[in-house]
Amino acid sequence: MHIIETEFPDFGLTPEQRREAVLGHYYEIPGMDGARGEIWCYTDAYAYPPGATVNLHVSATASRYRLEIVRDGATETPVLSQDGLAAAWQDTPDQCSVIGCGWSVSHAFRISEDWPSGAYRITLTAEGRDGNPVTCHHVFIVRPLAGRKPGRVLQVAATGTWTAYNTWGGSNHYQGITGPGRNQYAPMVSTERPFCRGFAVLPENAPRVPLEIYTPPAAPPRYPHMEWAYANGYSKKYASAGWASYDSHFFRWAERAGYAVDLASQHELHFTPEILDGYDCVVFVGHDEYWTWEMRDAVDAYVENGGRAARFAGNFMWQTRLEDDGKKQVCYKYRARAEDPVYQSEDKRRTSGCWEAEETGRPAARTFGLNALRGLYVGWGGCAPRGVRGFPVYRPEHWAFAGTGIYYGDLLGADGHAFGYEVDGLDYVIRGGLPEPTEDSGAPEGLEILALGMSSLKEESADIPADDQFLSDADAKFVAETLVGNQSDEAVNRIKRGSGMIVNFPRGRGEVFHAGSCEWVAALKRGDAMVERVTSNVLDRYLSR
Ligand SMILES: [Fe+2]
Repeated sequence: MHIIETEFPDFGLTPEQRREAVLGHYYEIPGMDGARGEIWCYTDAYAYPPGATVNLHVSATASRYRLEIVRDGATETPVLSQDGLAAAWQDTPDQCSVIGCGWSVSHAFRISEDWPSGAYRITLTAEGRDGNPVTCHHVFIVRPLAGRKPGRVLQVAATGTWTAYNTWGGSNHYQGITGPGRNQYAPMVSTERPFCRGFAVLPENAPRVPLEIYTPPAAPPRYPHMEWAYANGYSKKYASAGWASYDSHFFRWAERAGYAVDLASQHELHFTPEILDGYDCVVFVGHDEYWTWEMRDAVDAYVENGGRAARFAGNFMWQTRLEDDGKKQVCYKYRARAEDPVYQSEDKRRTSGCWEAEETGRPAARTFGLNALRGLYVGWGGCAPRGVRGFPVYRPEHWAFAGTGIYYGDLLGADGHAFGYEVDGLDYVIRGGLPEPTEDSGAPEGLEILALGMSSLKEESADIPADDQFLSDADAKFVAETLVGNQSDEAVNRIKRGSGMIVNFPRGRGEVFHAGSCEWVAALKRGDAMVERVTSNVLDRYLSR
């Protein structure tokens, strides 16, 4: 038995503080650390080719700082260290989350040609006003050059989701200080700002979103990750997105397992899709929620032409647009029909709402076989908090499960808690003990459902007051509006029950494998042997090893 703990820690917070941790809006802004002093930074791009120059934008209360960079792979490799660099405090506009910080360049350094593709973590350290050190972290990607890369995997970091969740400056695609009442989420967010605390690096004990504590009978939901964030000065969204919580775990695992992995950002899918052509296998992991039309075009064409895409990720949900050379990400989400100018224009397909919306007409399932609207939350809050921790397996004879010894009805990944937080699914029927996508599910031809667990679009208990729950019914109402055409209770009742699946299907000359869960990477991090084996089975087949 994995779960023995039933006592939730309080992280030193009072009940009122715990409530604020979950329902409040708190975020990083310049000056937040007051008398201690601060240092912050961002780079002028998410990803760079080898040989490029990185422009570093720094704002600090100190006049000197130290720069250290490590490559964050199977091992941590120091690549650059510079002392005594000059800094100054720079003014930051109030709406920096939306328009960018606009800081001038403080320092530039060159990426040496011998720095392998991967993620590079920046640490800046300066002396605080009280004499104690102040630090900040950032991460940038060294991407590969285009060209044939036999035997190598390309991992695409979910940078659209990082941008969407970044709380730095006060606004993201979830909560914000935009709008006349300074209380709206921002439909436009900038990449020209620091990452919030916990996106680049996290302590080992930082809770993940899915509960590792068994919720006692009739107890209201608890959200340890947000409570820990509030108590320890991390971003409210540290566990929802970012290199540290998600993408890093796959990258490190794959390198340790002996795979040669290159890393790119989603900007490359959008602006230089030819980068995919050199690879036999392209991988997407973690919490991967925001994509542009062009990014999907890139993957669809790649697979159609014989590429193999493996997605070990959840929450394929929203269409974004990029503006200003990719420095701004636009997603009106729930407000798209009311506010997105594209929805008012002739060609509405790029309206920044969900993929299943009539005006967009490009169901998410057409690219990766699953969508977020038929999946969603599991293993946290009031969404199946005591639900399965792994994928219930229906087709154990599938090649992906070879060597795992798994049986029909077994759970795959329960040891490593692979099933959770947000999962992707399809509408389905079960016949003779085997699930199949329904005819109007949007599933691609030839899709097989290998594993299937339950999820929920709504925190809903007959015994727990709605006030004690974090998730409103906004998601359920939105999905009802999109899939049924209205937000009535009857419509919500029709769509509120979701699933999370593992599926596999051929497409053109290529193939797609999709384990639709944000937490697959957590199971790799925790060394779950069956999840490791399935991941290797997929990579080996797709690399033709
Ligand atoms: Fe999400």
